[in-house]
Amino acid sequence: MLALKNPLIIALDVDTMEEAGNLVNRLYPYAGAFKVGMQLYNSAGPQVLKWLRQKNVPVFVDLKLHDIPNTVAAAARVLTRYGASILNVHAAGGSSMMRAAAEAVRKEAADNGTERPLVTAVTVLTSIDQEMFKNELGIPGLLQERVTAWARLARESGLDGVVASPQEITAIRKACGPDFVIITPGVRPAGSAANDQKRTMTPAEAMELGATYLVVGRPVTAAPDPVKAIREILKEISRLK
Ligand code: C5P
Repeated sequence: MLALKNPLIIALDVDTMEEAGNLVNRLYPYAGAFKVGMQLYNSAGPQVLKWLRQKNVPVFVDLKLHDIPNTVAAAARVLTRYGASILNVHAAGGSSMMRAAAEAVRKEAADNGTERPLVTAVTVLTSIDQEMFKNELGIPGLLQERVTAWARLARESGLDGVVASPQEITAIRKACGPDFVIITPGVRPAGSAANDQKRTMTPAEAMELGATYLVVGRPVTAAPDPVKAIREILKEISRLK
């Protein structure tokens, strides 16, 4: 199982290798891991993953894979080869897709003698509210119940965990047990700007509810002093122990 030095994952939401490199060089003594999402990956390509691996920096590759099982399995295999520590797929791709991803990752890591990345699922995007869920996606029932059902499906399909909003931690933890990985974005230290995140919690609140890892972007990367910002979050979480 993945052992990070702390639960804080810093989102590298920038366009270039240079900007990402500057952030990593300043923050890697403090961050548990970094997250490469579609902005940086689509701009800088796999080179950014190779560079992070060379530095021995754990990376969450947040590409939210969603396609037919064969295609997702192949992409998951490639990302495993690049040294991802965590990757993710959409639960809406169904159990056969999730299973194919988990199996491809296991096989690739075993063939290469490397540590297997955690495979996690995005359930319902946090940008979707109950009204959109019903009227635009046409899915009946409560969004929260779908989130929990998809988290259960992810676990049954052999995935390690989910990416979820802080509001969903309690229900998912109850449905999927203590070892299920819950990665939580939308975290805001007290007093920092919410930006476009709507339903936020502080890092300490999210950890107390049972988050395994926290994803934090702008409160650290756009802070006047990112090192001070990350140290304050780490101090806040360490008080819980
Ligand atoms: O800057 P901020 O802390 O809002 O960044 C949060 C990161 O987590 C972004 O990279 C965003 O894409 C990602 N994320 C999210 N909500 C999700 C899944 C991922 O905010 N449900």
